[in-house]
Amino acid sequence: MEQQSFIFSQREVTYFFGRSFSHLIEGYDNSKIVIVTDENVLKLYQPLFQGLKTISIAAGEEHKTQHTVDGIILSLLNFQADKNTVLIAVGGGVVTDMGGYAASIFKRGIRLVLVPTTILAMVDASVGGKNGVDVGNYKNMVGTIYQPENLLFDFSFLKTLPESEWINGFAEVIKHACIKDEGLFKHLETTALSDFMGNDDLITDLVVTNVGIKTAIVQKDEFETGDRKLLNFGHTLGHAVENLYKLPHGHAVSIGMVAACSISENLNLFHPEEMARVINLLTKYKLPVKLDFDSEKVWEILLMDKKRSNDEMNFVLLDKIGAGVIKSIPLQQLKGLIQQTI
Ligand SMILES: NC(=O)c1ccc[n+]([C@@H]2O[C@H](COP(=O)([O-])OP(=O)(O)OC[C@H]3O[C@@H](n4cnc5c(N)ncnc54)[C@H](O)[C@@H]3O)[C@@H](O)[C@H]2O)c1
Ligand SMILES: [Zn+2]
Repeated sequence: MEQQSFIFSQREVTYFFGRSFSHLIEGYDNSKIVIVTDENVLKLYQPLFQGLKTISIAAGEEHKTQHTVDGIILSLLNFQADKNTVLIAVGGGVVTDMGGYAASIFKRGIRLVLVPTTILAMVDASVGGKNGVDVGNYKNMVGTIYQPENLLFDFSFLKTLPESEWINGFAEVIKHACIKDEGLFKHLETTALSDFMGNDDLITDLVVTNVGIKTAIVQKDEFETGDRKLLNFGHTLGHAVENLYKLPHGHAVSIGMVAACSISENLNLFHPEEMARVINLLTKYKLPVKLDFDSEKVWEILLMDKKRSNDEMNFVLLDKIGAGVIKSIPLQQLKGLIQQTI
């Protein structure tokens, strides 16, 4: 499978698997392209962007802010970008989130192509149209839902990805397996991170499977009124500890998944043996499963969470491996459950 198209509410999105960046660029008028990337990707792949208008942003989550987006917009103005401009965001999730957001608001929306270059961005961040920036300690508080016209998966970018970023990305892969795909979970149990790194066939299959899981969920519920919430598994608590303790996203999600499993177990949804399988799998993929966090501070951040409504909070739990469920938990009970997870 090389190419697949999916209809979302705004437009049809074509996914290209295993096609090269240079091949994609050939399909566009170069004078209309503006590349948005970060300093690391630019340094590694400068020759790819030769002759193209390029905006480079500082790398890292701490720069995923409205301020950086304002800088992108000023550069777009300097390049005299207009409605015919195609913004091509090339990078990890920080770049695809900010590139997507900038494209959606600049002149109320210009053409967008996403080229994820990390595992995390390939299996998750670039798929589904969500974008955004952080505000202070609050992750992704501002953003839009805006689909790109094309999504390119050029696996050759992964050759330069450090192991720490592979580990980060596998947190989202394990998330998908936990909420939707027991078969994928078993596949991960019988394969190692080192098997995936550098094996194009395994990686292609893995990305296609994960993109398929996320796309199916998003297509059913693009604007997150139901099933899309499942993708927040591990993210409610994960986001709270991520910015508070400056953790890599995947590490924070891993800790959040363990907490969500522990809450699932305490509510008698989830079997202790399955809990052990999740912890073993996260450990096998070198992800942290424990953090001594300040539950009062974390609680304050959770209360600001988007998923809260009145006196209850929607929390994603597991019935069993491969079956995520959304439960509304009264805040008082949730506070106690979170304290018990430490
Ligand atoms: N929009 C969504 O639905 C969604 C879903 C999941 C995550 N996210 C967001 O994604 C972000 C995390 O994404 P990420 O982990 O890709 O972070 P990132 O963009 O910060 O990339 C991680 C690091 O890898 C570097 N890098 C990128 N590509 C590389 C390559 N090919 N070779 C070497 N280095 C490379 C980057 O410069 C950066 O230092 C978070 O902000 C998260 O909120 C969004
Ligand atoms: Zn995530």
